Amino acid sequence: MFTAAVSSPVACCPSEPIAAVGTLSPWRVSVAPMLDWTDRHCRFFHRLLSRHTRLYTEMVTTGALLHGDVARHLRFHESEHPVALQLGGSEPADLAQAARLGEQWGYDEINLNCGCPSERVQRGAFGACLMAEPQLVADGVKAMLDTVNVPVTVKHRIGIDKQESYGFMRDFVGTVADAGCRVFIVHARNAWLKGLSPKENREVPPLRYELAHRLKADFPQLTVVVNGGLTHSAALAEQLAQVDGVMVGREAYHNPWIMAGWDAQFWADAASTPASLTREDVEAAMVDYMAREAAAHGTPWSHIARHMLGLRNGTPGARRWRQVWSDHRLKALPAHEVMALARAACQPAQALTEGALAASAA
Ligand SMILES: Cc1cc2nc3c(=O)[nH]c(=O)nc-3n(C[C@H](O)[C@H](O)[C@H](O)COP(=O)(O)O)c2cc1C
Repeated sequence: MFTAAVSSPVACCPSEPIAAVGTLSPWRVSVAPMLDWTDRHCRFFHRLLSRHTRLYTEMVTTGALLHGDVARHLRFHESEHPVALQLGGSEPADLAQAARLGEQWGYDEINLNCGCPSERVQRGAFGACLMAEPQLVADGVKAMLDTVNVPVTVKHRIGIDKQESYGFMRDFVGTVADAGCRVFIVHARNAWLKGLSPKENREVPPLRYELAHRLKADFPQLTVVVNGGLTHSAALAEQLAQVDGVMVGREAYHNPWIMAGWDAQFWADAASTPASLTREDVEAAMVDYMAREAAAHGTPWSHIARHMLGLRNGTPGARRWRQVWSDHRLKALPAHEVMALARAACQPAQALTEGALAASAA
């Protein structure tokens, strides 16, 4: 397995020295569950950028696990630890059975989705609409806790629809905590169940971090993780002064190099992320992985490369590099040849030549 040796690309540092890694909350920094994005290839890639950051699967429904291809949904690479399985469902017996499968496959945590607003999920009566049924969530959590030994956690919103009162979330958390849940991941905006797409539901309802801070003050014994709109390491450090953890979604996916600074900054472990790691090292490690996946499972490199297209963001030639890695006409080539083309495309000389060719063709 590739050993991450990472330079710190981020200027910000938390203002106070932090404790040794073993004493920090395992939920201190995580990458959010994202459907169609945080599959096992994506998580393998993210793990190359941070040894300690907690990773979450995409949401997997209990139905998909109990009646579908379990290996397809649950297989993961051992390097992904610590890794959490996010479940979507509401029927306690089904949740318990799905959680057992998750534990058997080696996941470090089972997380229940109480924050997804999509209409499809609402029709299945789970996701964010579960916030209106705290006792059902408590029953599901208890059924899972009675079945597995790994932590069972809940990811939720601060409210649903026009329900703006803090008391709504406090009572939800109180009821679920009474069933034994100790970790709550708060996407700090409401879910509007009617009239907004899931994408709009990640952008339109306003962020209210202060409600998550209040939750921590009211339930100091619980682990409270804040999620939503965190894009800079300085913002993570700011939140960590108020709560136990931060979860980053879109920014980690689109601009993954920010994670290369996290082990040193947030996990007190510069050793697993030494200053020498480069984006090229990570790209090369991914190409080795692509070759192994192609040999073992026939996975086309494009299924893997799509998750790393943001790796060079902010560096010269990033767009041309990305264009090569997303060019499906190259799909018959082995990944190492695609990498050679992508690297060549980054070079300014190449760009000039291409520019000259285009000009002469015009
Ligand atoms: C493409 C995409 C898919 C998502 N899928 C899930 C999901 O499966 N489960 C979940 O709890 N949240 C899901 N989310 C929401 C994220 O976990 C996170 O709560 C949200 O993006 C806010 O965090 P951010 O502002 O850091 O991105 C998804 C978000 C995106 C962008």
